[in-house]
Amino acid sequence: MDTAVAIDVRLARALREARHVAVLTGAGISAESGVPTFRDALTGLWATFDPRELATPAGFRRNPKLVWDWYAARREQLREVAPNPGHDALARLEARVPRFLLATQNVDGLHARAGSRRLVELHGNIARVRCSRERGRIVATWDEPADEPPRCPSCGAFLRPDVVWFEEDLPVDALVAAEDAARACDLMLVVGTSGEVYPAAALPQYAADAGACVVEVNPAPTPLSRIADHALRAPAGVALPALVRAAWGEDVMPA
Ligand code: OAD
Repeated sequence: MDTAVAIDVRLARALREARHVAVLTGAGISAESGVPTFRDALTGLWATFDPRELATPAGFRRNPKLVWDWYAARREQLREVAPNPGHDALARLEARVPRFLLATQNVDGLHARAGSRRLVELHGNIARVRCSRERGRIVATWDEPADEPPRCPSCGAFLRPDVVWFEEDLPVDALVAAEDAARACDLMLVVGTSGEVYPAAALPQYAADAGACVVEVNPAPTPLSRIADHALRAPAGVALPALVRAAWGEDVMPA
């Protein structure tokens, strides 16, 4: 099926010869797993739900139960999904490249489940729950009251998902690692992101400024398209296996 994507031989060679590859992924890479994106006009989460109410500290203060329940429902939905060939191709790519970092904006944990290890989660992970007062306090089990979110066993503050909301800082270590990789890589793949949310959206520009080859994988153009040296206008689950195959041939595909 992935033979439908034409891969420029110069791109295949650039990937094969790259010593350092950085990857930025967004919600689009998980779309083929059945996880909704955020900004699709019809099916995106922000088309139906208000991010100010569900993805900001102020929204959580206004209605903690609504926010807790929304993330709990998404966490349940994610139990039903699995990595797709796009996630798998990035895990195979990692095994081929000496220096590699995958920075994802996704909170769904699918890259790790596909086998990616040199991975930073810029926006956290929805499967983790933490104290709303103390960022580093991860909580594994809790009692679920009917009318409010569970509370931190240590300080009594509400628990919340360990994701990054609008107006919040990204985890410093993850962001620094992603920025360093963007500035030092030979080639950067930008996969399934609208490029509208900063600071993640700045990473491809850092790579371009440092002279890296920037490759966008997205069926639709984005504000990042203008800095891309190559654009694969196909779903990630089709384009990424085709790209890895074009660079290394059939032997890279596991039986
Ligand atoms: P968006 O929903 O903004 O963008 C998804 C992108 O994926 C779009 O550009 C689509 O064209 C593209 N896309 C759709 N299907 C695809 C496929 N099969 N293969 C490849 N690309 C596909 O999602 P993000 O850019 O991830 O943050 O959004 C960034 C952040 O905004 C999220 O991490 C989240 C959100 O609000 C927070 O919640 C803080």
